[in-house]
Amino acid sequence: MDLKEKIRVIEGFPKPGISFKDVTTLLKDGEAFKYTIDKLVDMVKDLNIDVVVGPEARGFVFGTPVAYALGVGFVPVRKPGKLPADTLRYEYELEYGSDALEIHKDAIKPGQRVLIVDDLLATGGTISSVAKLVEQLGGEVAALGFIIELKGLRGRDKVKDYNVISLVQYEF
Ligand code: PRP
Ligand code: MG
Repeated sequence: MDLKEKIRVIEGFPKPGISFKDVTTLLKDGEAFKYTIDKLVDMVKDLNIDVVVGPEARGFVFGTPVAYALGVGFVPVRKPGKLPADTLRYEYELEYGSDALEIHKDAIKPGQRVLIVDDLLATGGTISSVAKLVEQLGGEVAALGFIIELKGLRGRDKVKDYNVISLVQYEF
């Protein structure tokens, strides 16, 4: 199956110059969604994954079915103030200002092998923040799994020490 045929591209969203990759068209197509999850699962099934971690919001959508299929748990990484128990926070710089992500401190046990899943690797800012949170809790990042990679934004350079898996590649 050619997943690019299932991903809608919207030019100029959310601002001029951005070519937005809209995965809602893939998600509503049952056959394409199943194929996507099955393919990602197949690529990580021998990595001895103990737990899947995904950042809100789109990392939840793809991360949870991967965890279910692997028979392991899922851990959410959220924007500040959303998780109720003790959290660890990682702040990262954006083009203008900064943002932060949080994880529950008891979400990962030291030594657990973690698969981090998100829909998109763009600059790599989000995923490297998630990886740092996982590592601060003692987790071992076994792989970073994406549906889409925007190669021209060189996110791979930012996460070059990790095993990066992507199903579909675009330049931008
Ligand atoms: C998008 C996308 C990735 C991230 C990729 O999330 O879902 O998480 O950007 O970009 P990066 O590699 O440059 O960090 P977004 O922050 O738009 O939020 P959402 O998932 O809640 O829609
Ligand atoms: Mg996201």
